[in-house]
Amino acid sequence: MTSVTATADLEHEKRLAAARSLEFVRDGMYLGLGSGSTATIMLQMLGQRVRQGLRLAGVPTSEASRQLARQVGIPLVGFDQVSQLDLTIDGADEVDQDLNLIKGGGGALLREKVVASFSRRVIIITDSSKQVAQLGGFPLPVEVVRFAWQPVADRLRHLGAQTDLRLDRDGSPALTDEGNFILDCDFGPIDDPAGLDRTLNAIPGVMEHGLFVGLANVLVVGHHDESRVIER
Ligand code: A5P
Repeated sequence: MTSVTATADLEHEKRLAAARSLEFVRDGMYLGLGSGSTATIMLQMLGQRVRQGLRLAGVPTSEASRQLARQVGIPLVGFDQVSQLDLTIDGADEVDQDLNLIKGGGGALLREKVVASFSRRVIIITDSSKQVAQLGGFPLPVEVVRFAWQPVADRLRHLGAQTDLRLDRDGSPALTDEGNFILDCDFGPIDDPAGLDRTLNAIPGVMEHGLFVGLANVLVVGHHDESRVIER
């Protein structure tokens, strides 16, 4: 069981990572705005900097982040106005030593991957619990087209995954911002993230998956009372 102290410590580490990541932000940048609890802290801090005069504009990776960015005063742009972002700051569910990631615990993986892919630099902010020797402890979210989620789930099971259709609290399938379903896939320890990335990309009906291979450039991780910067 996670104790109250442990939860508070992780929250503190998230704050340290979020604050440190803002040192990479420069006036005039186009930013990818991440999703999840760590990115939420970062967006609140970024909003404060904007209110103090920092000029920038961001592309949010989820409707939740869009709403929060608006609330805290961060100007927004779309890919109809800008095709390349300077920097994306986002969280992760797991990160390995090569800065490969599992993302999508919050369901925003599709837009998160698109935004990261069109960014010159990607910074991942986490607490220390997210660093792992090998990816796969956290079930890999796979976003699938609704009308064929069952055969896609079959295909994933043939690949060795245990699959769970993600549900909302009322028991109905959870819908992503793009209107798709999510299968949480337990593949066990992932020996070859790049190989699994290619395999999943080749399955028709898989709209996106939460393995981010070679996309992150920098990890900023909170560790007790300090933040550490690890560059790839
Ligand atoms: C959202 O879909 C995710 O990719 C998040 O970035 C990830 O789940 C990390 O979230 P926390 O910062 O809440 O742990």
